[in-house]
Amino acid sequence: MISPINEPAGLLDFSSKLIRWYHRHHRDLPWRHTNDPYRIWLSEVILQQTRVAQGMPYYLRFVEQYPTLRDLAAADEKEVLRLWQGLGYYSRARNMHQTARLIVQELGGNFPASYAELIKLKGIGAYTAAAIASFAYNEPVAAVDGNVYRVLARIFGIKTDITSSGARKEFTALAQQLLPPDDAATFNQATIEFGAIQCQPVAPDCLLCPFNDVCYAFAHGAQAQLPVKGKKNKVRDRYLNYFVVEKEGRLALRERTTKDVWQGMYDFYLIEAAEETTDLNELESDHVLAHWLEMGEVVRTAGPYVHLLTHQRLYARFWHLRMPPERSLLLPDNMAFYNQEEVEELPKPVLINSYLIQYFFS
Ligand code: ADE
Repeated sequence: MISPINEPAGLLDFSSKLIRWYHRHHRDLPWRHTNDPYRIWLSEVILQQTRVAQGMPYYLRFVEQYPTLRDLAAADEKEVLRLWQGLGYYSRARNMHQTARLIVQELGGNFPASYAELIKLKGIGAYTAAAIASFAYNEPVAAVDGNVYRVLARIFGIKTDITSSGARKEFTALAQQLLPPDDAATFNQATIEFGAIQCQPVAPDCLLCPFNDVCYAFAHGAQAQLPVKGKKNKVRDRYLNYFVVEKEGRLALRERTTKDVWQGMYDFYLIEAAEETTDLNELESDHVLAHWLEMGEVVRTAGPYVHLLTHQRLYARFWHLRMPPERSLLLPDNMAFYNQEEVEELPKPVLINSYLIQYFFS
């Protein structure tokens, strides 16, 4: 590691320069006006998976619907997932909801007030625990997210692969050294904000940067190489065939009970194939589908739509099957028919919702 600022005076200078920058440039964001750990927690969970502009409407809707931790704890999981719809990583919403219940039911509604207590909670990792502890309670712990990795790697010339196992420890130790113990909240907000608006991933604004006299990446033209991000994700291709069974204007939806990213959400009957399918005969070994094809007919196909997840590329094809009104139809246990209004209310993966908007709700 090459540290342009490595003596104590330099370290102090770093945080005071950074905080000065923050006071002049930071955005006015609603979660910066509260000490309520619940609201801070909510904002951090949302912002871990999306940018401020996309996350803001979710945050505002959540605090309107569930103004307090107790309101969230009392909510139905379906309703929580419905509000989260579109943000992805639905397990984060489920964990938050479960943890809200635990705090209300087992901790008397008292939000844990230290890093050490917060990190014990399901769904709260090192970053979120530090963010809540510093923003709500001003505990002097450094909150290190992707923005902070980028800022520190560039300014201090740290070449450690940020996806490696030791990276968090190394970056957190440096951030902890830089953090002024009496103003942890401002320092953490400032580092995050600096990464988000000044030291951006692709186009950092180096000419107007207060650290351009000491920044390793600027001096070496290494902005694009830092931070070092090792092995790229292996992306798996999956071919999904969804069967949209319609009977008298109602649609058959399936509640997903498998423990995966879409647990608790609703989609259609699904047959996954090894490759792209254009001929339904290839899927007729599926007994449910064979039964439906005897009863009704395919009136439309749509797709394939490509949908990217962190480790998967989904190719989804939708087969719209219309069933005659007079005949009764077998559905698997976890499926039922819903009218349009009900379908709109249920939590659904974005892929499913986009299809419905295009073909059914327009
Ligand atoms: N990203 C993560 N946490 C954030 C925060 N508190 N403000 C703005 N962007 C963030």
